[in-house]
This record gives sequence, structure tokens and C-alpha cells, in this order.
Amino acid sequence: MAAAFSPSQILLLSILFTALTSASADFYRDAEITWGDGRANILDGGRQLTLSLDQYSGSGFQSKNEYLFGRFDMQMKLVPGNSAGTVTTFFLSSQGAGHDEIDFEFLGNSSGEPYTVHTNVYAGGKGDKEQQFRLWFDPTSSFHTYSIVWNPQRIIFMVDNIPIRVFNNHEAIGTPFPKTQAMRVYCSLWNADDWATQGGRVKTDWSKAPFLAAYRNFNINSAASDSVNSAATWKTQELDAQGRNRLRWVQQKYMVYNYCSDSKRFAQRIPPECNRSRF
Ligand SMILES: *[C@@H]1O[C@H](CO)[C@@H](O)[C@H](O)[C@H]1NC(C)=O
Ligand SMILES: *[C@@H]1O[C@H](CO)[C@@H](O)[C@H](O)[C@H]1NC(C)=O
Repeated sequence: MAAAFSPSQILLLSILFTALTSASADFYRDAEITWGDGRANILDGGRQLTLSLDQYSGSGFQSKNEYLFGRFDMQMKLVPGNSAGTVTTFFLSSQGAGHDEIDFEFLGNSSGEPYTVHTNVYAGGKGDKEQQFRLWFDPTSSFHTYSIVWNPQRIIFMVDNIPIRVFNNHEAIGTPFPKTQAMRVYCSLWNADDWATQGGRVKTDWSKAPFLAAYRNFNINSAASDSVNSAATWKTQELDAQGRNRLRWVQQKYMVYNYCSDSKRFAQRIPPECNRSRF
């Protein structure tokens, strides 16, 4: 089947979406730098945050508040050039044993070779729900918006408002789903050249350090902020026909790993939720 929409339509959609979400966002107010000893910096009056990584350390920040469900948007510009061995993250996580987590991780690559977008969902401390994607643009040349919609029915991962993955609540057939533990937003830039790039074969070139990733327009809609955002579409958000078309387009053209199709890994028993949805 042909692409559901053209590159120019995608561009238009991203511009529109960027315009709609570029309000507010203040890293001084909403976030705290948690590690990296000066390698993380808030710029531009709180509107931008940069993380850096060198031989000695990476860096990271987290949201001040915790949230139980919501929509979480972040614009990111990833490490340019040879980013092999670097991992840039934007994820939600609860704390303590049996934790829940919803992940976006961007695995760097050699110059000119594509990033891998790694997604995963943990419930009660158990993950193993990976899907990985390529992007249809260069994530290092400009900012793009990465979003997590999390409600009791499903989790939707989006890139520039295009759904790339839906993880439905399949508790009814025994698949745990994160829905009781509040989570914080975490972002980090760190080194993982033992596994991140081509299975660890391509190492970080430290002569290119420091590596730098930038974040802006951190935007959260959750129960706490809904008084100012009465629409709160995230609460019941699901895909309409157009969303399903876009998801199909991404999954057919850009998905490079799906745990549901990994019959070697799940030789005994493919996880039950994999039978329920084609995605
Ligand atoms: C890096 O690029 C190579 C070649 O295109 C690809 O095989 C690999 O999966 C890419 N991503 C990572 C994270 O290694
Ligand atoms: C999934 O569906 C296939 C074919 O319909 C069936 O053979 C298999 O037992 C199902 N697996 C699970 C885990 O439900």
C-alpha cells in the first residue's frame, strides 16, 4: 500500500503542531537538573535545556512533579554527527521496586547512519515490550516533538503528532499495564557504547566530545493542569481512522524491531497481547 500521506503533508502537520504547542514551558519552574555536575544547562530564560556528555559523565534532569496519566510532550534535537554509543532519553518512571516505566530512547549512530528510536513499557518492574523505529527525518538538524499519551486504556507514542506505537491495556488477558503508580518525567544523555550502537561494535569517538542534546517546549497535560486545559483529550485519547492510517504507515516503513515478531526470543510463548492487536 502507498504512503497514507505525502512528505509535504507531514511537514505541514509538524509545523501546525509546533505552533500549537509552543506556549509556556519553563524548565526552571517544572524541572530540576539531577546529575552531570554542570553538564546540564537551562538557557533562554527557562525555555531550553541542554544536556552534555563527555568521557567522565553524562547528565540528566527530571520533572519536579509526578503524574498519574497525562500527555507529555518534549521537543528534542539529538546529538549531531557521529553519535555512536550515546543514548538520549525522554521517559516516564515511578520509583522503587516493581516500578512502571514508559520509554523513548534515542540510540546514536555513526555519522550518516540513522538513529534508532527505542520504545518500551514496564509494568510492575517487568518490561520486554520493545519496539524500535527509524525516523523519516534527521532528528539532529532541528527540533521535533516526541509525545507520550498515557491513560488507563492505552499508551500512545507519537513523533510530531504522528502515532508510531499504541500499547493497549490488555490486563483482561493477563498483560500488566501501568496504571496505579505516579511517574516523573526523566531525560538524560549518557554513554552506553557497550550495547547501544550496532550491538556494541561501534564505540564512542571521544575526540568528538562533548556531545550535546537540546530539549525545549516541555509540556505536560495531566489531571493537575486540567483546570487550565479543559479539553483534556488525552484522558480518552485513541486513534481515529486517520491515526490508524498513519500508525500503519510508520509501522510498515519505519519499524525495525517488534518484540511481538521475535519468535526466537519468545519461542515458548508469544506474549498474549501480541495476538490481540496487529500493532
Ligand atoms: C546504525 O546504522 C546501521 C547501518 O544503517 C544500522 O544497522 C543500525 O541499526 C543503526 N542503529 C544503531 C543504534 O545501531
Ligand atoms: C495466538 O494465535 C494463534 C493463531 O490464532 C494461536 O495458535 C496461538 O495459540 C495464540 N497465542 C496466544 C498466546 O494466545
